[in-house]
Amino acid sequence: MSSQQRNILVTSALPYANGAIHLGHLVEYIQTDIWARFQKMRGHRCIYVCADDTHGTPIMLRAEKEGITPEQLIDRVWHEHKRDFDGFHIAFDNYHSTHSEETRFYADTIYTRLQDAGLIEVRAIEQFYDPVKDMFLPDRFIKGECPKCHAKDQYGDNCEACGAAYQPTDLIEPYSAVSGARPVRKTSDHHFFRLSDPRCADFLQRWIATPGHVQTEAANKLNEWLDAGLSDWDISRDAPYFGFEIPGAPGKFYYVWLDAPIGYMGSFRHYCDRHGLDFDAFWKPDAQAEVYHFIGKDILYFHALFWPAELHHAGFRTPSGVFCHGFLTINGTKMSKSRGTFITAESYLRHLDPEWLRYYFAAKLNGTMEDIDLNLEDFAARVNSDLVGKYVNIASRCAGFISKRFGGRLGTVDRSATAEFERAFAEGAIAQSYEARDYGRALREIMRLADLANGHIADKKPWEMARQDGREAELHEVCSTALTLFRDLTLYLKPVLPKLAEQVEAFLNIPPLTWTDVWAPLPAGHAINEYQHLMTRIDPKKIEAMVEENRQSMAPPPEPAPVRHAERQQHEAQAEATSTSPAYIGIDDFSKIDLRVARIAGAEHVEGADKLLKLTLDLGTETRTVFAGIKAAYAPETLVGRLTVMVANLAPRKMKFGLSEGMVLAASDERGGPFLLAPDSGAQPGMRIK
Ligand code: 2FM
Ligand code: ZN
Repeated sequence: MSSQQRNILVTSALPYANGAIHLGHLVEYIQTDIWARFQKMRGHRCIYVCADDTHGTPIMLRAEKEGITPEQLIDRVWHEHKRDFDGFHIAFDNYHSTHSEETRFYADTIYTRLQDAGLIEVRAIEQFYDPVKDMFLPDRFIKGECPKCHAKDQYGDNCEACGAAYQPTDLIEPYSAVSGARPVRKTSDHHFFRLSDPRCADFLQRWIATPGHVQTEAANKLNEWLDAGLSDWDISRDAPYFGFEIPGAPGKFYYVWLDAPIGYMGSFRHYCDRHGLDFDAFWKPDAQAEVYHFIGKDILYFHALFWPAELHHAGFRTPSGVFCHGFLTINGTKMSKSRGTFITAESYLRHLDPEWLRYYFAAKLNGTMEDIDLNLEDFAARVNSDLVGKYVNIASRCAGFISKRFGGRLGTVDRSATAEFERAFAEGAIAQSYEARDYGRALREIMRLADLANGHIADKKPWEMARQDGREAELHEVCSTALTLFRDLTLYLKPVLPKLAEQVEAFLNIPPLTWTDVWAPLPAGHAINEYQHLMTRIDPKKIEAMVEENRQSMAPPPEPAPVRHAERQQHEAQAEATSTSPAYIGIDDFSKIDLRVARIAGAEHVEGADKLLKLTLDLGTETRTVFAGIKAAYAPETLVGRLTVMVANLAPRKMKFGLSEGMVLAASDERGGPFLLAPDSGAQPGMRIK
């Protein structure tokens, strides 16, 4: 137990408000939550804040597609995220939103101060613009033919078929993924944070070199970036954009990545205002309080270059540390919908106990940036062996004797035995390991104690004592000692298994465990409660069912983001972004859509797709293949021969199951559907609809 109380603010990266929380996200939230719980158990004031990251083009387009406002969308997702985090016992002290007055206030404060310091520059840049949708297009919203391998429908920054990286301007036949229109080049003013100013590089060099700020492997990467020279950072986006308008710059908005980390401050300010805490005591330049950001390695650049440079030059303190972790793989490869390993938090919780995953991730985390693998077989084996076979086993072997033979009261504890355990432990090793985020090492130590405790019970054989006359006192002592050790193990495991620890506290009839309780024996005569089953073994069938459920709920392609990553998320959102703008369009816009009568010449199931039918459409002069999401409503054989309506000039889209060369039209809403459109009798395949 350290003597001085520390004031610590801890954050995890803010998840985007346009997607579900999945196991890839949870590595970080579990990692941070364990650390924050550990600090609290040590008696420190540790405040853990987070928020939804709510701004940007993908969120704006998704809301539009759903026919709701961005505010409605982010409100709904906030509740979904909060539900998932609660399900995994992630105990935020505050879970806020970047779309908040607090975040706006600090974004404006930082921006204005950077401007005063001469670190903001406005200059015109040329970008792709969607003339139909009247908006500038982020790279991931521009598609076209790969200039290298000529695969169709590749994104504006790299080709998924051959892996080539390029500029959107290199694409052959580029088109807007939002409207399908051919983008034009257009100039507009953008606001830049002048990271190329020598003041930034000088400061960052010192900041990175200061021990504790970043891990060594992160420092190496950051120094490489510094050596290559920092470019100015484009921090504005033009309307239409869902975000905060920049003061004094109508129609210009802060780029989502500018206000995302400021959301840490916004969430903390929201907390301070409700708990009477002094925000400045944590954020002024010479603050004694500590600030730590837990992040994934894909967003190191934002947190260890942009963010400290911004904070420093805007007159705020910089982070005490940026703690970077690796990515999650499942069964050795990146998460994949087709393999059923793109597992959402919600679906995990439908099948499995959240503390199993907390334990497994903790066992794998070691404070480095290495990727961690969730091997599903190993997961079951590890949890069953460590938690059920070793830890819970101690209580289940001894508790019954206390309640049946000793009226539920503990006897004396064998102090020589507990002293032996204390000696067997490297002084403070567990606390040091937690502090260093080497949870794997902490758990190895804890399991070593569990082995010792089980060995002690096996040597003493309480079950034999129970059958022999005159050994009551010995039996009482062995079981009381074992339960004291069990209490210590629970204390050590509590940051990882908070709910299980609560159950044990209720069973042992003790107040919430804190670190000061270590090795203090439970007093003789202390009454405990009846032992209730604490944890079941993982049934591998449940894991299979979870994987199967995720495989079955596979949406049509494209393949999903492997783990949280800024561009990947945009990619995902982009894939679903279609225009449903309620604004009027002119007849010219309408006539761009080539609607045709089509005869369904063939319809068949698509192996591995639960929503799609493969349609062969006869347009009179040609046939097209279209994958349509109508399987739930139509048996393929009932469709053959029918006339329907198709969009004939929709850019072909490469899907997992083949190329889709258009789209059939169908109506649906919450009352039902999809209902395929059909022309009146007399219409012929190929006729234009106008
Ligand atoms: O990569 C992401 O998912 C971002 N939403 C993380 C933001 S972290 C912080 F800067 F807010
Ligand atoms: Zn290519």
